[in-house]
Amino acid sequence: MKQERRKFLKQLGVFSAGVSLFPVSAAGNYAAEAGANSCAPCTLDYYGEGPFYTKNPPEIKNGQLADSNEAGERLIISGRVTNNDCTEYIENAVIDVWHADDSGAYDNTGYKLRGKTKSDNQGYYSFETIKPGKYLNGNEYRPSHIHFKITAPGKSTLTTQLYFEGDTSIKNDAAASIESGTYDATDRIIPLSKENGIFKGTWDIALDAIGKTIETGVHSEHIDKGMIYSVYPNPFVDRMTIKIGVFKNANIALNLYDVSGSLLDSVNKGGLVQDKYEIEWIPKNLNSSGIYLLAIKVNDLEVQTIRVVKA
Ligand SMILES: [Fe+2]
Repeated sequence: MKQERRKFLKQLGVFSAGVSLFPVSAAGNYAAEAGANSCAPCTLDYYGEGPFYTKNPPEIKNGQLADSNEAGERLIISGRVTNNDCTEYIENAVIDVWHADDSGAYDNTGYKLRGKTKSDNQGYYSFETIKPGKYLNGNEYRPSHIHFKITAPGKSTLTTQLYFEGDTSIKNDAAASIESGTYDATDRIIPLSKENGIFKGTWDIALDAIGKTIETGVHSEHIDKGMIYSVYPNPFVDRMTIKIGVFKNANIALNLYDVSGSLLDSVNKGGLVQDKYEIEWIPKNLNSSGIYLLAIKVNDLEVQTIRVVKA
């Protein structure tokens, strides 16, 4: 691995238990993570919202649609809401989701496995739930799916469904098997990876809306200050290694938030000189696995926030 070939010049100092920071020599060409996703506007599902929608679901709390005791295999879905050509991200899009439980049953009297969340100030959304079970639709099982209603501010609602690659029920499903036209489901069948027993899938949602310009490559308005190049492993268990660049002498902080924006832990270092640094950090106060937000603060400004996942 590239990282292993890099050498450290010296250890600058230890912030606190579990945190160390090194400037990195032989300045590597860390590419900023550019969004390489292909872009296609989100399509409608042939079955529309289906028969099991319940209006006015509750807000999803702490990113958890399913309680921790909900039967089934854990699943984290995350992605970014953008405009139709994926050049702009959409903040505050309402994402209303509902799905069957592990046995294929919907809660049609309450709001179990029903909830809504919003895209954040960079257009990202995420929630943790369980992989929906299948249920009979006539003589065929519907493939495992999650229903979505997505509403960008000031725009009409897009109602559709999300499926998972490798599901043997897709080919015989009247909606999921459609491969062209208005109800083309191709881009709504996503691969899932499994890490530490949790399924993970990424689904970016492009829809008719106006947002803010997505910068590609290096964040140009931040290049004169500093940025996070990478975090690994991600998902992390206890320890994460964060590579940052400091482009002008500055005071740096790394802040870790939960998805509701509460600050859980931070590390601070004053007077860093211009260089690339590698920080090993075992953050405290993380209660559960799931999604957290890592921000780099340069002097008085948080210039970049990225999602990290605790396994
Ligand atoms: Fe359904």
